[in-house]
Amino acid sequence: MSDRIHSLSGYIHEYQRSVNQPEQFWSRIADSFHWQKRWDKVVDWDFEGPDVKWFLNAKLNITENIFERYLFTHGDHPAIIWEPNEPNESNQTITLRQLYEKVNQFSNAMKAKGVGKGDRVIIYMPMVPEAAVAMLACARIGAVHSVVFAGFSSNALADRINDCSAKMVLTADGNFRGAKSIPVKAVVDEALEKTSTVEKVIVFERTKEAVDMKAGRDIWWHDAIKGQSTECKAEVMDSEDLLFILYTSGSTGKPKGVVHTCGGYMVYTKYSFENVFQYEPGDVYWCTADVGWITGHSYIVYGPLLAGATTVMFEGVPTYPDAGRFWEVVEKYKVNQFYTAPTAIRALQAHGTEPVTKHDLSSLKVIGTVGEPINEEAWHWYHSHVGKMKCPVVDTWWQTETGGIMISPLAGVTPTKPSYATLPLPGVQLVIVDADGKELKGNSVEGNLCIKYPWPSMIRTTYGDHERCKQTYFSTYKGMYFTGDGVKRDEDGYYRILGRVDDVINVSGHRMGTAEVENAINEHPKVIESAVVGYPHEVKGQGIYAYVICDMENRTEENLTNEISETVRNIIGPIAKPDKIQIVPGLPKTRSGKIMRRILRKIAEGDTSNLGDTSTLLNPEVVEAIKEGAK
Ligand code: WT7
Repeated sequence: MSDRIHSLSGYIHEYQRSVNQPEQFWSRIADSFHWQKRWDKVVDWDFEGPDVKWFLNAKLNITENIFERYLFTHGDHPAIIWEPNEPNESNQTITLRQLYEKVNQFSNAMKAKGVGKGDRVIIYMPMVPEAAVAMLACARIGAVHSVVFAGFSSNALADRINDCSAKMVLTADGNFRGAKSIPVKAVVDEALEKTSTVEKVIVFERTKEAVDMKAGRDIWWHDAIKGQSTECKAEVMDSEDLLFILYTSGSTGKPKGVVHTCGGYMVYTKYSFENVFQYEPGDVYWCTADVGWITGHSYIVYGPLLAGATTVMFEGVPTYPDAGRFWEVVEKYKVNQFYTAPTAIRALQAHGTEPVTKHDLSSLKVIGTVGEPINEEAWHWYHSHVGKMKCPVVDTWWQTETGGIMISPLAGVTPTKPSYATLPLPGVQLVIVDADGKELKGNSVEGNLCIKYPWPSMIRTTYGDHERCKQTYFSTYKGMYFTGDGVKRDEDGYYRILGRVDDVINVSGHRMGTAEVENAINEHPKVIESAVVGYPHEVKGQGIYAYVICDMENRTEENLTNEISETVRNIIGPIAKPDKIQIVPGLPKTRSGKIMRRILRKIAEGDTSNLGDTSTLLNPEVVEAIKEGAK
């Protein structure tokens, strides 16, 4: 059964209902799922705690809602279509029944290696179907997965393993990415030297490169599943038991483990998937994200599979072997819904329209974007050249913490407006507040985006540190969840996201805390102090600009900047490497010693005409020096 909304008046009606009678609204949606035991109460919440519970005391297993629910009628239906990095390597179509068997078999393999309900399992894998199998197998046996993007460094991986005391790591020998093959197992080996909780590592063979297998600890995936049954009873989970932890950056240095739980996440991801993308049975849906990010969790794996959809998984990159790869794949599988990031659109836009027009994109019905604000030019390019003016563009705003899409057009239902995420989904009660926390009512207002009522897939806590969850999201504005984003509500009541208002930058749709990058830079022995800001970047949306005070003895500027770049790559990963590093004699500070980031941002943007009053600074003279040396 589908709870799809088909018209704008239907949307308005559903939205009103969801606000006036949220419990009835969500209980009706949740009724269409398979629960082993129904809930006693729909929602219990208090944003002070915060303490949020959905579908209280209900019992379920999310994988029964993916498999058992559809197996008898749709067992032969393609669940995952996998497109490898090399276009001529054979692809794979995995039916629902095959996926079910793979998941069960791997569930039994993990159990045999001592993993059970509540244990944390790190997944550090390339974009192969086994990454989805790994996630679903964890869910099947009640283990808590934490997927770490396979581009992160061994240090970043070790931090995450330690933070959640993971018992097992699932990985691969290597990762094919465009023309490169990246060692993955070697990174795990390095990380495990800095951790002590991991008992077993299961290694999927992908690139066949040489790896060290540590006796007693490391097992090949194909050996682990040997002889394991393809039947595995789903663990009984409470609605509020942990489903997964996903680490994300915030304005302080250390990434935080965002916790999502079983019942609410299941209900919201399926509901939002069906409504935003207007998925119809038989459609082929493709989201180009990596499973290492929340987009991959909610809209490659869980949402689509809960809806009985066919979901495409792509191992490669948009520009390999050429800039037509996305469109070649759309044509090959007759993709109906296509979901990508503005940074990918801008990167492809730079290659002109020829790679797009070369391919038959007539199967497309809906095209979407996520991860960062989409500029009007990119929106129009996407709409005209990819969507041929006929496919609605769904600009979807959400966050790791929200679990699912919060503001977005429903394809073909909500009239779109370039670079507007448009309207909230049913159940999402938005508030715009000014700096003092006063609600700005009515239209034509701009301020900080908050949410005043819980929704089923919201963050429950930050793993192992509930206080941090409270401080980060529920303390800035009393009684509300604060998103960290600035927003405008225009004269029509439409929402346009303006970007982060905290010290978080968004580089190619990847979230990074400036403090996190600064901490990495400061690890270099010659660095005395640093300050990192974002600046507008044509393709990445925002680039990373680092101002660094260094001890220059025995070093040239060039080798220092290279070394600093390398340090950041080693500590976080290539995605955090600064685009620009400027060695400076000092950083502008207030008399109380606080770095004036506003000034540094202006200089990074190349706008030095209007720096404001710098005379009250502790060291006004450094501003001139920084301006002079700006890149
Ligand atoms: C931040 C969340 C949610 C999946 C990908 C990113 C920015 C996300 C949009 C959009 C403008 C967007 C926000 C948000 N963002 N989508 N459609 N328009 N900004 O997840 O890593 O948790 O980052 O991404 O700033 O707070 P994330």
